[in-house]
Amino acid sequence: MHVVMVGGGVIGLVTAWRAAQRGMRVTVVDPEPGGGAARVAAGMLAAVTELHFGEETLLTLNLASAERYAAFAAELSEVSGQDVGYRACGTLAVALDADDRAHLRELHALQQRCGLTSQWLTGRECRRLEPMLAPGVRGGLRVDGDHQVDPRRLAAALLTACAAAGVVFRRARAQRLLVGGDRARGVLLADGAELACDQVVLAGGSESGRLAGVPDDVLPPVRPVKGQVLRLRMPPGPAPFLSRTVRAVVRGGQVYLVPRTDGELVVGATSEELGWDTTVTAGGVYELLRDAHELVPGLTELPLAETRAGLRPCSPDNAPLLGPTALPGLQLATGHHRNGVLLTPVTGDALAASLATGELPEVARPFTPRRFAHTAAGAPVRQELPV
Ligand code: GLY
Repeated sequence: MHVVMVGGGVIGLVTAWRAAQRGMRVTVVDPEPGGGAARVAAGMLAAVTELHFGEETLLTLNLASAERYAAFAAELSEVSGQDVGYRACGTLAVALDADDRAHLRELHALQQRCGLTSQWLTGRECRRLEPMLAPGVRGGLRVDGDHQVDPRRLAAALLTACAAAGVVFRRARAQRLLVGGDRARGVLLADGAELACDQVVLAGGSESGRLAGVPDDVLPPVRPVKGQVLRLRMPPGPAPFLSRTVRAVVRGGQVYLVPRTDGELVVGATSEELGWDTTVTAGGVYELLRDAHELVPGLTELPLAETRAGLRPCSPDNAPLLGPTALPGLQLATGHHRNGVLLTPVTGDALAASLATGELPEVARPFTPRRFAHTAAGAPVRQELPV
């Protein structure tokens, strides 16, 4: 079977790798494979700390992927010879004022109702764990199961693993889905080449709803949600600046600090509905630094190494669209919103199974794109991809 993957971000790459491991011939179409939202993402594996009311079904998928992460990272490192920066460090979510504290208490209650492990700490206990925290911290939740990975290293290792498994890369933009005889038949590239195949997987992140030629009733309802992210450098030394991911809700906005063993400290993230805009703004940087500084005042002494903005691919219910569509020959792996890096292992496994058998494994079945079939009229207005 020949599979064409439209999109070479971490979701497209992991699907390509797993499909190639099952003996399929795979071509990844992307002008810049290894790019996409993972180049900006912090890499939190936050199944428990990013739990939201009404998203219990998504929690099941998130937990399934989190459980696979250690083995997935070890296998990928072994195959690629590259470290992916997987760190089983846990997370501390803290509250800075009474409102934040009430919000965190509600999250704790929801976690308990869902059978998740988290522990309520006083402000003093939080600072004992992380001495750089502000003295005003009012309490927090210790979540020892929410870890981190380095998304840039992950993408690089997936590129190597794909190449080793025989995946072919076409560094071009997919311009149009080719449909004939009521099924997807391949992809027209911007350079004029036509790639015929048995199955197309649309894994184009936030651009997945923009591919020309996809019939309206199967066009994924995915929109971009902008996130601005900063990268700082922590000083080397025997005592770590932060030893785990630290996060808070400050004035209603999420801020998180993800410390890596190589000294990088990632500060994220804004969440902005601004279409395709990826400008890093003074306001975005200001808000992130202001909120992060309230959390960890010493952070403003650190060198600021990088500012970037990326686009999360968001679906109407914040959950991914996985597997076969109503158009034979077209499958989706998109709409992962805030969880693309976390969901990478389970997405690769689910899509490879779906390509091989035509059926999603049970854990992924609730995420069939067919759940939006009745809302086809609500699909995003088609905008042709720029050539
Ligand atoms: N999961 C973190 C974010 O999307 O900002």
